[in-house]
Amino acid sequence: MFTIYGHRGMPSKAPENTLASFKAAAEVEGIKWLELDVAITKDEQLVIIHDDDLERTTDMSGEITTFNYDEIKSASTGAWYSEKFKEEKLPTFDEVIELANAFDMNINVELKGVSGPNGLALSHSMVKQVSEKLQNLNKDQQVVISSFNVILVKLASEIMPQYRRGLIFHASSFRRDWQSLLDYCEAEILNIEDAQLTEEKVKLIKEAGYELNVWTVNKSTRANQLANWGVDGIFTNNADKMVHLSKA
Ligand code: G3P
Ligand code: MG
Repeated sequence: MFTIYGHRGMPSKAPENTLASFKAAAEVEGIKWLELDVAITKDEQLVIIHDDDLERTTDMSGEITTFNYDEIKSASTGAWYSEKFKEEKLPTFDEVIELANAFDMNINVELKGVSGPNGLALSHSMVKQVSEKLQNLNKDQQVVISSFNVILVKLASEIMPQYRRGLIFHASSFRRDWQSLLDYCEAEILNIEDAQLTEEKVKLIKEAGYELNVWTVNKSTRANQLANWGVDGIFTNNADKMVHLSKA
């Protein structure tokens, strides 16, 4: 098995984490998985955006948790990318579920760590709402819940134990006690940054019995090497260029 995850949709063709980007990835024949980043606003609405701050990928700036949804819902999330996408807005989690249903896609839901003084309460709200909203996903579509944040993955194990869970690591934060962290939140999947990943490290993780995915892999030669090492999947910005490596 080798799985290709459309990382934030297909950012090589449309602005990341927009409906246009998810649609672009979903339209590639053979791509069955979308990865998306879920964040929460001050008034507890789930929106899809990678950064804590609106600055890089919208025409607004400021921390997402300091805004109510109504204040940011009209922000353009595509003008920075190109004129063609200037009408794109921050997708809600509901809208992505609808799109996933329409295209029969599986989803890897990355829960973004919540910053600010109300972070823990908002974290609870985020996981609870993700769980409720996933009830609307067609039953034959698969879900993985993932995060860099151990608290969020642990909460997912308590609130929605039916979904498989993944813990994400930067190369620099991959620790010798990685297995304890995964076991604490009952995660069977490890999603690791590509930088500094060696065949030896892949073997160590695979021999311990975990599923291993690597992000963000945009060169097919590297993707092929990782597949040969026994990696289970990759997150890529170029889903269309990787689809030939996909194996069920
Ligand atoms: O879930 C894999 C990958 O998306 C993690 O990193 O920063 O792109 O969300 P990031
Ligand atoms: Mg992500």
